[in-house]
Amino acid sequence: MLIWRQQHPELRWDWNKIDTNDIHFPKEFLWGVATAAHQVEGNTDNNNWSAWENARDENCQPRIKNNQKAGLACDHWNRYREDILLMQELGVQAYRFSVEWSKIEPREGEFDEAALQHYREVCDALLAAGLTPMVTLHHFTHPLWFEQKGAFEKTENIALWIRFCERVFQALHEKVNLWCTINEPEVFASQGYFQGVFPPGKKDPERTGVVLKNLLEAHTQVYQAIKRLPGGDQARLGLVKDIFQFDPDNRWNIFDWLISRKLKHLFTNSILEYFRTGHFGFSIPGMVHLEHFNAEAPRTLDFIGLNYYSHLRVKFQFNPQEFFIFKFLPDEIMTDMPYPIYAEGFYRAIKTLAQLQKPIYITENGIADARDDRRELFIRRYLYAMSRAMQDGSDVRGYFYWSLLDNFEWAEGYDMKFGLYEVDFKTQQRRLRDGAKAFVKTVRRK
Ligand code: GCO
Repeated sequence: MLIWRQQHPELRWDWNKIDTNDIHFPKEFLWGVATAAHQVEGNTDNNNWSAWENARDENCQPRIKNNQKAGLACDHWNRYREDILLMQELGVQAYRFSVEWSKIEPREGEFDEAALQHYREVCDALLAAGLTPMVTLHHFTHPLWFEQKGAFEKTENIALWIRFCERVFQALHEKVNLWCTINEPEVFASQGYFQGVFPPGKKDPERTGVVLKNLLEAHTQVYQAIKRLPGGDQARLGLVKDIFQFDPDNRWNIFDWLISRKLKHLFTNSILEYFRTGHFGFSIPGMVHLEHFNAEAPRTLDFIGLNYYSHLRVKFQFNPQEFFIFKFLPDEIMTDMPYPIYAEGFYRAIKTLAQLQKPIYITENGIADARDDRRELFIRRYLYAMSRAMQDGSDVRGYFYWSLLDNFEWAEGYDMKFGLYEVDFKTQQRRLRDGAKAFVKTVRRK
């Protein structure tokens, strides 16, 4: 596999010669859509993100583009029944969503039964509609009190998150079989503690390593804790891993190559190694060197989730302030996010995760496309890439499109239109986008 990756640093297929209708999925393949609480529910106003939306940076500038706030979002908290009808209209059989910790435990140790009851009702409504729920326990947000206590910077705080997860599990385990523990730990750690563009806005390499280590540790511990609970042996738990491909802009340039390799290691290989061997190593020369070992880690994945979007081409430059930048090829088709359509990278990402020899669920994949003029192409190519990876032996069990609805895209606010359904945020009306029909067609083909 290692050899495969080195030989094909940037796979390219000739799409003119490919029939994207030539896709095959097993009968039991699980098609779904995904969302996350803060991005769709509305009134998630007591967490790290709501505080961030009201904060200013060192230059007194708002943290979110144009000072946007999640606010009422898609009002999914109240409209989930209507949204379940939309899922049925698509023909999917599953829904991945996250539970909002700040609503369930608004103050430390005080659990809100009504909030837990809400999620029970969501699960009941899904099951009644023939949809399988997949619940994410941490999707970037946590209560403000937890943030103020240092969140995952402190090893001792892990126990607080586990207590919350146990409560959720006890409330929902009879209805939910598929559980995602932590969404994209490497994105959460790097954006929040290295780049400083997510809360808490720190730029501290050492802390980044500590947070990532603690998140991996939290995953391992919550897996063990849940397995010990009644019903735990039947639950299937996995971590959600994002793979953004880093490719050298010039593969013969040693610096481009070394930097992209380092990024690959920091973001992906270090985490895969943790789950293969129990060893986690995170080092950036002159900045941070961290080692961690937990022999139990390899036994704490029933599946692995993959979020895949695109790749970035890494170009070294002689500038000590910024010694590399990201570039794209002129013929690449850009999405509205600052990255292109790159379906071959999806194939590569699946192959990479397949090394863990665990079932894979694609927990997110989708495109921001406000004009809706690239969505169909995106869907066709990415589903083709997934089908090809499966034909080549990868054990992919399901696919959750990101996202059901346009929603609050973190630092980008509402500008990014990821929804299969367009949302008019003034009237809360939803409308199926034309480009989404390629997805509906595939889902319904079974
Ligand atoms: C992430 C999250 C999602 C995003 C999606 C689109 O990757 O940031 O899991 O919450 O909204 O990936 O960027």
